[in-house]
Amino acid sequence: MAGRIPQQFIDDLLNRVDIVEVIDSRVPLKKKGKEYSACCPFHSEKTPSFTVSQNKQFYHCFGCKASGSAIGFLMEYEHLSYPEAIEELAHSQGIEVPYEGGQRPDPALKKVQTDLYDLMQETAQYYQHQLRQHASSEQAIKYLKERGLSGEIAKDFAIGYAPDSWDGLLKALGTSAEREKALVTTGMLIQKDSGKCYDRFRDRIMFPIRDRRGRCIAFGGRILPKASSNTDKEGAKYLNSPETPLFHKGRELYGLYEARQALRDIPRLMVVEGYMDVVALAQFDVRYAVATLGTATTPDHMQRLFQLTSEVVFCFDGDRAGKDAAWRALQTCLPEMRDGRETRFMFLPEGEDPDSYIRKIGKDAFEAELKQSQTFSEYLFKQLTNEADISGIGGRAKLVETAQPMLSQMPEGIYRKVMFEQLEKLGRVELSQPESAHSEMKRRFKSSRQAASNNMKTAMSPVRKAITLLLYQPSLAQHWLQRNSDYNELAKLDLPGMDLLLEVLEILRNSPNLSTSALIERWRQTPTANHLAKLASWQPELDDYEALEIEFSALMDALNKQSVDHRYDDLQAKLDHGTLNEAEMAEYKMLLQQIYAAKSASKPD
Ligand code: UTP
Ligand code: MN
Repeated sequence: MAGRIPQQFIDDLLNRVDIVEVIDSRVPLKKKGKEYSACCPFHSEKTPSFTVSQNKQFYHCFGCKASGSAIGFLMEYEHLSYPEAIEELAHSQGIEVPYEGGQRPDPALKKVQTDLYDLMQETAQYYQHQLRQHASSEQAIKYLKERGLSGEIAKDFAIGYAPDSWDGLLKALGTSAEREKALVTTGMLIQKDSGKCYDRFRDRIMFPIRDRRGRCIAFGGRILPKASSNTDKEGAKYLNSPETPLFHKGRELYGLYEARQALRDIPRLMVVEGYMDVVALAQFDVRYAVATLGTATTPDHMQRLFQLTSEVVFCFDGDRAGKDAAWRALQTCLPEMRDGRETRFMFLPEGEDPDSYIRKIGKDAFEAELKQSQTFSEYLFKQLTNEADISGIGGRAKLVETAQPMLSQMPEGIYRKVMFEQLEKLGRVELSQPESAHSEMKRRFKSSRQAASNNMKTAMSPVRKAITLLLYQPSLAQHWLQRNSDYNELAKLDLPGMDLLLEVLEILRNSPNLSTSALIERWRQTPTANHLAKLASWQPELDDYEALEIEFSALMDALNKQSVDHRYDDLQAKLDHGTLNEAEMAEYKMLLQQIYAAKSASKPD
């Protein structure tokens, strides 16, 4: 069983880290007034609508509505689980995460995981070292040089060499049974039925595959041509790491980390097929190429690409296979084709790949062709009208039948609308545009969001206003709490949101120093979290602490008075029916006094 992480630790951790630092080291922020902003890393945009509040320790995007704490940010941005995000933050502060019952979540796994990353790093270094030092690395160096790679690019991509031996890596790094086992887990060693292990990669050029944080998680190894001593002459040209706990090929893109390292702003990302294509393009200063790892482009890939840039170009061979791959890629990007994004399709002449082609024509001509390449809409309609003869009714029907479900997958917006218009023109029909599930969801979300903010402007109930004030500045509660230790009567007021308000007060009574984000963290993965996140984006007209404190206390006093009045009415009714017991009688008298005192206090002298 995984031990829970104590709430107190999470509160303290969130108090200790600064969300501005956490985000700024990943997405550079600019200071704008009291807040920080950037282009949102969770959707593609040209003008920044992503804001980070140091005060609230909370981020919020006005564009895509993403919001949360430092923990939430790491979960979203680095695809971490909740405990992993906490671990990551704790690690950045040099502190250990305690687990209730002294247990970590699957402690063995966690430990091994860190070790696996370290071991992969050692492995990459070993291969790089072999490329420089090994007696028989000459041929590998010669080959890389022949392919036109400079030492600098080889270094940027950490290219290495696996010597022609069954146990080079095994001997160098498999120095204990435990490490040997870990090397099997990372796919670097293969274990025979007999239990003995041997190197998976032999006499190959090694391309480390790095994750978004630059950690080596897998390798691609290219065979050397006509190597007389090659131990697997019959082997595939490229050998990739298998799927391992660190490596899921449907998620990773070769060269993405390197592209982000080399470029400040990523103008576009170009998807190519091969390792050597990425490296050769980089050699020609085209630093925005990435390669899928022997798989088709997945939806996960698409999302990742569009998180970083607004233009994705697919570069494929002009042959049948390349065209098929492009058409599949087009299907995958449909749900990502929001306004402001573009996808292009560039087809190379027969027999060329990006590597050979850029060598032939150079960077400028290559980029000029890129600019001429087909856009998403051009490619889609050209392809469909090639398949169906739209001069006849049957062909037009076929066109519409095929295209309509495709276009329906696009998110709502101008782009989608124009695509449908084009389809209507080509098909010579009028279509009622079916709403995509996605856009319907978005619309609903928008209208509820709209309602929420309208509510905020017009009639916000006192309970809601009180919660909103506490989310803006949790410490506002303290002044009132000091004077009101017992507020359980409030629960009897049957007002929407009262339970939540009381819950918030109770938390703040026990943990007075919570930030907005630490407060909202308490409702992680409950529908309430969304509700609170919405309220948390409220800003006062005038940011005066004292005024807000008075407003909060006044709201609470009014609610208190309401509950007193209610109770008084209850007791009065009982008194009228002669059912009042002794304790209730005492309470009645006390309330009477309170009400009287309040009345005389509010009377002008
Ligand atoms: P290519 O055969 O087009 O290789 O495979 P390439 O990139 O042009 O390589 P060079 O120029 O001959 O060195 C494209 C991609 O398909 C995968 C690899 O990811 C490769 O980069 N592949 C290819 C394999 O996984 N195994 C293979 O045997 C061949
Ligand atoms: Mn090639």
